[in-house]
Amino acid sequence: MRIVYLPGDGIGPEVMAEAARAVEALLPEARVEERLLGAEAIDQLGDALPDETLEACRDADAVLLGAVGSDRYSWREGPNPEDGLFRLRQELDVYANLRPSVGDGVDLMIVRELVGGLYFGSRGVEPDGTVFDRLEYHPDQVARVARRAFELAGQRDGRLLSVDKANVLATSRMWRATVDEMAPEYPDVQLEHLLVDTAAMRLVEDVTAFDVIVTENTFGDILSDIAAALTGGLGAAASACLGDGGVDVFEPVHGTAPDIAGTGVANPTAMLLSAALMLRYGLERPAEADALEAAVASARAERPTADEGGTADTRAFGDHVLAHLRNGS
Ligand code: NAD
Ligand code: IPM
Ligand code: MN
Repeated sequence: MRIVYLPGDGIGPEVMAEAARAVEALLPEARVEERLLGAEAIDQLGDALPDETLEACRDADAVLLGAVGSDRYSWREGPNPEDGLFRLRQELDVYANLRPSVGDGVDLMIVRELVGGLYFGSRGVEPDGTVFDRLEYHPDQVARVARRAFELAGQRDGRLLSVDKANVLATSRMWRATVDEMAPEYPDVQLEHLLVDTAAMRLVEDVTAFDVIVTENTFGDILSDIAAALTGGLGAAASACLGDGGVDVFEPVHGTAPDIAGTGVANPTAMLLSAALMLRYGLERPAEADALEAAVASARAERPTADEGGTADTRAFGDHVLAHLRNGS
């Protein structure tokens, strides 16, 4: 069993250290390797996704990723950390990003399309100064992520909400038609559609009302931060990026949190729960996943970090998780 860790930048390495300790306690036999991604990779190897990182990921059974982004390189043209993340997602073709929100009557799964749309369309500047970002989807890209969502809904409460902006966008009209065409294949799933603005409002009004939401890349990015804020907060939101049988990537929803990076107070919950998703879906070790989720629940109840109203720092939270894994309490 081979796991590649990509800690990345900012709080990425801080929260990854706690996940690595937990994985080592649960899977001492696993071979783990750490590789560079993001700003650190640009500094050391001149590329946000160095070839050696990509090759190690392709050879792995699972990839665990922290977060990338840095004031030094982000939000500009030229090599930048976020492009390294997009290339990793695209190269591994992890097109279905599962972002669960659980707790207090909430059991929501957002399925975000991850390798298409605005993120991957051409962008540039016309001679007259007009700047453009192209939004495009092929029906096959829609069908494969919708299939994932229908299947998930079938295994859950049987309710699927597809979110688009079909009153404005051609891509959304095709999205809706494609999802509708597939619905008869899933007679046990009740399919509904909502426009993204209405969906955002409904989420805020009552997040408990949803089962599975499927949507395109940009809408999924935004709706999943809303869902996270309405449940455990960004510090607790985990995700799984899944393809069709290749290596999958597991990563928190949050970023590098430059405002708290280096102070040792980041909540490692999202990172630890992403490791639990890796154990469950990437490595088929459900018992270890259950144990890790129970240990994290215990730490959140007894040693919460500042963002969840407590005083524990990252390491103290991780210590509690490890103690729970060793003693079961
Ligand atoms: P962010 O998610 O990094 O932070 C948003 C807010 O949430 C901040 O106040 C931060 O302190 C808080 N927060 C986030 N994670 C936390 C944690 N584990 N514990 C406690 N508090 C936490 O979003 P941002 O500030 O908009 O982005 C910062 C950088 O991260 C940008 O460069 C962005 O591109 C990048 N980013 C990367 C990823 C990724 O690698 N998957 C995801 C989101 C943002
Ligand atoms: C996420 C992040 C990334 C995204 C950023 C870092 C570009 O916000 O994983 O949600 O938008 O995909
Ligand atoms: Mn995001």
